[in-house]
Amino acid sequence: MNARQATATAHPNIAFIKYWGNRDSRLRLPLTGSFSMNLAALETCTSVCFDEDLVADCFDLNGVEQGGESLTRVSRFLDQVRALAGQSVYARVSSANTFPSGAGIASSASAFAALALASAKAIGLALPEKDLSRLARLGSGSACRSVPTGFVEWLPGEEDAGSYAVTIAPPEHWDLVDMIVVVDPREKPVGSTAGHSLAQTSPLNSLRVAGVPARLESCRQAVLARDFSLLAEVVELDSNWMHAVMRTSNPPLVYWSVDTEVVLWHVQAWRAQGHALCASVDAGPNVHVIALAEEQAWAEERLRTLPGVQRVMVSQPGEGARLVEQEVK
Ligand code: PMV
Repeated sequence: MNARQATATAHPNIAFIKYWGNRDSRLRLPLTGSFSMNLAALETCTSVCFDEDLVADCFDLNGVEQGGESLTRVSRFLDQVRALAGQSVYARVSSANTFPSGAGIASSASAFAALALASAKAIGLALPEKDLSRLARLGSGSACRSVPTGFVEWLPGEEDAGSYAVTIAPPEHWDLVDMIVVVDPREKPVGSTAGHSLAQTSPLNSLRVAGVPARLESCRQAVLARDFSLLAEVVELDSNWMHAVMRTSNPPLVYWSVDTEVVLWHVQAWRAQGHALCASVDAGPNVHVIALAEEQAWAEERLRTLPGVQRVMVSQPGEGARLVEQEVK
């Protein structure tokens, strides 16, 4: 047989404690650990077919043939898979997202988690979850957190072998929702790969890094004890630290828009009134409003009416990457 195929699906994740900055950007070894929740409602599904008749890798996303940087990134990733398997065969990759890419929803996380699993399986590598998570990390750091199920921590490690993500609690452990408030669906001007390399130019970076172990501990404790007040406090603090580093980098990175600020202001005000909500922002202007599931109807209705809000996508905690039968055409 000269073609070997596999299909995998994975969810993006929202970081409660953020990953920002690398110790080693080639291996994507992070400056700190991080913590996230997979998002069940959003999904990337990817088919990989290694075929001896191909003369180069090819990649289509949502039915559109990709070239340039997008194809190069996938092809470089496949080079690492080929190196692991000791093979040189090219692949066709077909991928579909159920959500807009480049909207601060970390599509690279679900993309590389699904690609890691599908390509490893198709080429005949039987990798344990830890090694699959390491492999996904080489495509996009946060992708290593989309491999294990549920609430996940990325152990930063000292070198490649020790830098992977593990499940802290399964998705059904806590009935949380992430309401993703989209104020601008456009592709962001500075992607996270370029952004990470600016972290060390900020005078606040070392202070942020020094505080992460304590924030990770609070986050772990909050999730395990289902303590929403503790979670809210640490999630907002950590998001603010990351954006403080971004804004004080050289050149500065400002991802928030006026509409972002309006949403954040309201989330603060509603929490002060007693609602179990908090907010976190990734490398984009959109706001992730994390809440107890019982707050969803109340909050979603209000979020939709705020100025600048284009849509609200709601997600429960999700599973890790897994193989599926249905091929992406
Ligand atoms: O995995 P990357 O390189 O796309 O970086 C993700 C960075 C943030 O989304 C801003 C934070 C995080 O931990 O997900």
